Amino acid sequence: MDELIRQAARDLAASSHAIVLTGAGVSTESGVADFRGPKGIWTTNPRAEAQAYQRYDTFLSDPVAYWKEMLGTVGSGSDFYAQMRQVAPNPGHHAIARLEQLGIVKCTITQNVDGLHEKAGTRRVLHYHGTVEKLRCLSCGSRFALEKYSLEELPPLCTCGRPLKYDVVHFGEPIPSDVMDASESEAMECDVMLICGTSAVVYPFAALPAMARRRGPGRPAVKIIEVNAEPTPLTRQGISDCLLQGRTGEILPPLADEAARLL
Ligand code: APR
Repeated sequence: MDELIRQAARDLAASSHAIVLTGAGVSTESGVADFRGPKGIWTTNPRAEAQAYQRYDTFLSDPVAYWKEMLGTVGSGSDFYAQMRQVAPNPGHHAIARLEQLGIVKCTITQNVDGLHEKAGTRRVLHYHGTVEKLRCLSCGSRFALEKYSLEELPPLCTCGRPLKYDVVHFGEPIPSDVMDASESEAMECDVMLICGTSAVVYPFAALPAMARRRGPGRPAVKIIEVNAEPTPLTRQGISDCLLQGRTGEILPPLADEAARLL
């Protein structure tokens, strides 16, 4: 086994509050395309990315047009979201769930909206960019399970009377304050941060590792470990201590096995 994996396993086994941060790269081995990797959605279809940047404004100005778009176009609306509901977790997701079951990982903060961490058995998940399984009201903050709405009548309405949108955070949309606050307190409290499958270019999520790195005195020293197919700005800026370069589905299972052996 690679010495970097062995050292990361020692760090995890010795930790008192390890957390995991994930991005689309952990789901590619489940068949869900990422965004900026070589076959990513934005890489292969810049028009879809430009459309995605308009989505939040569309909802604010015309919720019916937003829903017609979300339920209609490929690579963005229900085709993309419907595809996410059909896929299964891969060994990377299962390894993260196992690290939680071992009592090592206390929280998983994900940018992914596919719900695969819960499907793999992870229980404490913060959905930093929301989830396709729910609808959310921007006015009162209420969230509702998607299946409670037929989506025949558009837009779906909140109990407060205002229109509902997918509980997915679109570009330009504020991160829900409950999730933002919980994520930041995890970043301030952790002593190991395992960052898996993210290009670390989208803020404010990408600021969480630097927040952990630069927190003041009186906090435990933090070990920041990346698992990613390629180096990221966190690697290049020295915010992460090491990069386990490769596929999360191949690195995380032996990492979890070795951490379990050391407990
Ligand atoms: N194993 C490890 N790394 C992988 C794998 C894999 N199997 N597959 C892809 N990767 C890497 C890619 O090389 C890339 O560095 O994962 C990273 C995925 O980066 P992005 O596609 O940018 O995804 P992410 O970081 O989650 O994007 C953040 O951008 O468009 C928004 O809301 C969207 O939440 C998303 C956010």
